[in-house]
Amino acid sequence: MNKKRVFSGIQPSGIIHIGNYFGAITQWVKMQDDFDAIFSIVDLHAITVPQDPKKLKENTYKLTAILLACGIDPKKAPLFIQSRISAHAELTWILNTIATIGELERMTQYKEKIQNSKFKIQNFSSVGLFDYPVLMAADILLYNTDVVPVGEDQKQHVELCRTLAKRFNNRFGQTFKVPQIQLRKEAARIMGLDNPKKKMSKSAESSYNYIALADSPDDIKRKIMKAQTDSGKEIKFDENRQGLYNLLMIYKLFSEKTEDEIEKKFSGRGYGDLKKELAELIIEKLKPIQIKYQKLITDKSHLDSILSSGADKVCPIAQKTLKDVKSKIGLI
Ligand code: TYM
Repeated sequence: MNKKRVFSGIQPSGIIHIGNYFGAITQWVKMQDDFDAIFSIVDLHAITVPQDPKKLKENTYKLTAILLACGIDPKKAPLFIQSRISAHAELTWILNTIATIGELERMTQYKEKIQNSKFKIQNFSSVGLFDYPVLMAADILLYNTDVVPVGEDQKQHVELCRTLAKRFNNRFGQTFKVPQIQLRKEAARIMGLDNPKKKMSKSAESSYNYIALADSPDDIKRKIMKAQTDSGKEIKFDENRQGLYNLLMIYKLFSEKTEDEIEKKFSGRGYGDLKKELAELIIEKLKPIQIKYQKLITDKSHLDSILSSGADKVCPIAQKTLKDVKSKIGLI
């Protein structure tokens, strides 16, 4: 039986945090064994907000090295840079003609991003930022994707992708597979350490919001010790105590212990102890990734060859879909 196709992407934004790691990357690593998986570094998405060109190049290499260090195996799952395959931009244009302005105006991420003070200061909201979900739909639909593993913040975008696929199929005949979204239950939404009401985010105003995979032990300790909790005492998994719940969830994900085991371990102990042990656990678990990363990042030509071979493998799939789409809509 043919394996199901998985497609997912991640932006080369410089900071890859434990939200990305648990919400997406750990799912990808698991799925690459049982699925026909394709993963993309989505640089065309990254440029929807202003980027320093030099840093963007550097961040693309850094992300490649991080993904490999986390266990993505390019022999099992091609890894490629989105902008290398021009079909992504071409299909975006075509899908733009069936997506509506109202649909894009309803996208929560867009609404939040234009409110974010970082972008407000630049006073620049690009058409690309508005159109970002259509590019994402093109990414997914080009590869006849069955399953899209993402964190919860991307759910609305994948739903729009499904809507566009169905609309296109209705108008022009069966062309696109309608993909399913896959969220990793407990890790779909890791919250900000400094504000557990909002998701952990690399565009957060303070670096105390997130733990980056590349953070030093000192940074990790400082950020966890400063993480927001409440004035309660008992250490329990209680979703209403959002700060504590988020820290316990991070502990659970890194330790792979059950909630019962964790509650017993910290019974009668205070938040200070929990934070200290959590910081130590994160440092210990990120260390092997950081060691691998340091080695990989020094060999750019190796990274280049992985990315080129990934693009070579996926290009024919994308071209075939695009050709079919063009023919269906009457482009000669
Ligand atoms: P990006 O680069 O913002 O994030 C990469 C992945 O990390 C997940 N994620 C989180 N998961 C749990 N908790 C969090 N706090 C958290 N923050 C981020 C995201 O949901 C995502 O899965 N538009 C996408 C990239 C993309 C894509 C695609 C994904 C482009 N084309 C096609 C799937 C299919 C993005 O910007 O992700």
